[in-house]
Amino acid sequence: VLAEYGISPTHGFLPDVLPLTRLPDPYYNKWEAIATNFQSLILSKRLRGVIDRLPVLSTIGLEHDAEWRRAYMLLTFFAHGYIWGGDTPMERVPPSISAPLLKICEHLKVPPVSTYAASVLWNFKPLFMDEDIDDLDNLATLTTFTGSLDESWFYLVSVAIEARGGPIIPLMLTAVAAARQGDAATVTRCLQAFAERLDDLGELLRRMHDNCDPSFFYRKIRTFLAGSKNMAEAGLPNGVLWDDGTGTSDFVQFSGPSNAQSSLIQFFDVILGIEHRPTGEKADASDSEREGRMRGPTHNFIQDMRRYMPGPHARFLDDVASIANIRQFVENRAKSDRPLALAYDACLAMLRAFRDIHIAIVTRYIILPSRENRARSRSRSPEAVRNRQNLAVASKNAAHKKVKGTGGTALIPFLKQARDETGEPAVERW
Ligand code: HEM
Ligand code: ALA
Repeated sequence: VLAEYGISPTHGFLPDVLPLTRLPDPYYNKWEAIATNFQSLILSKRLRGVIDRLPVLSTIGLEHDAEWRRAYMLLTFFAHGYIWGGDTPMERVPPSISAPLLKICEHLKVPPVSTYAASVLWNFKPLFMDEDIDDLDNLATLTTFTGSLDESWFYLVSVAIEARGGPIIPLMLTAVAAARQGDAATVTRCLQAFAERLDDLGELLRRMHDNCDPSFFYRKIRTFLAGSKNMAEAGLPNGVLWDDGTGTSDFVQFSGPSNAQSSLIQFFDVILGIEHRPTGEKADASDSEREGRMRGPTHNFIQDMRRYMPGPHARFLDDVASIANIRQFVENRAKSDRPLALAYDACLAMLRAFRDIHIAIVTRYIILPSRENRARSRSRSPEAVRNRQNLAVASKNAAHKKVKGTGGTALIPFLKQARDETGEPAVERW
């Protein structure tokens, strides 16, 4: 069944066929040549010229899905390099990229923008074929914007998490079947194994700090990961025009890549019966409080991120949601079956801990560097020198509002809401 959704029982949402290191058809040699010199072309600011002169290649030479995936990976890296790799962003992407990319997106059911699939799921190789890819020390990236170890590490931590977390999928589908049979012992065993594995994933996440420098990440890496939605301030008021040469293209706006697009983490929420509410809506707010707080339409960011997942993976999550029965099963028996209730709560606690580790990362990798940046530009501005104290207060407030995730969320409030919602169904309460 999993294969129908493009899911591997051992490595989850990572492809069963390893990402290709090169497109086999020599027809695509021009793309591969750009890939080979990609970072140098960005560094010398020559990527735009090269892409403007690149001929429009068709998708005719793409055969297996692994080839389509590599083509998507390459063209999204090229596109983001093209858009963000200069002093001001480019809002039009020429047909050499747009025409084939739009076809590829259609085929793979992904949007024309870099995604978690492009930068993580389809962008790795094992260093040693006889060792597993769930080991961070056996992984390398295929493409990066900067050629830095920091950027590779940033993607590879996620690859390792996907690989190590993959076996949780069949494990928890077993638990669903067991719950249907009323087999509480099996459900308990599955939940215990799930909680232990979640603990492992948290340890992997923590390793981000080992080899990815926060200041470098903030200044050099995430600038390329920006999307085209709400990017007026960054210089893309209309979004991006994917000019495929037909003269019919329009501006579109998409979120940039974010791990909120990880189907694995969303699977954890779905299978445990954790619900994420629209952003900005407080979990414990009363209806009237909620109405007061919400202005305009609500926006469920986590749900929206499914549109950025490869089509079959998003479909899998929808289908799992329709059979998820664990929470109900545990709730019904929590009072009489303590080991079951404890195992379920251990999963919630571990997932919550995972989100806490992540919040600490976001603080260190985005919030703190953004403050340093501001402090630096403040001390350079003459009015600031004259009126430093007032400005310090005012700009702290203003910039707090401004800094956004590459996905477009308000960062900490959003992430804390997601964490708090993780804790909500704790059965210990019943
Ligand atoms: C969401 C930053 C690494 C998992 C987010 C968001 C930000 C962010 C800002 C909010 C969405 C947005 O607006 O973009 C970072 C930074 C990282 C990092 C700076 C490393 C330097 C990771 C890793 C994982 C992860 C390695 C796990 C595989 C998630 C998840 C969400 C998210 C699941 C959605 C919110 C949730 O479900 O709690 N991240 N992230 N992140 N991130 Fe990360
Ligand atoms: N979503 C991450 C960020 O905002 C990558 O930097």
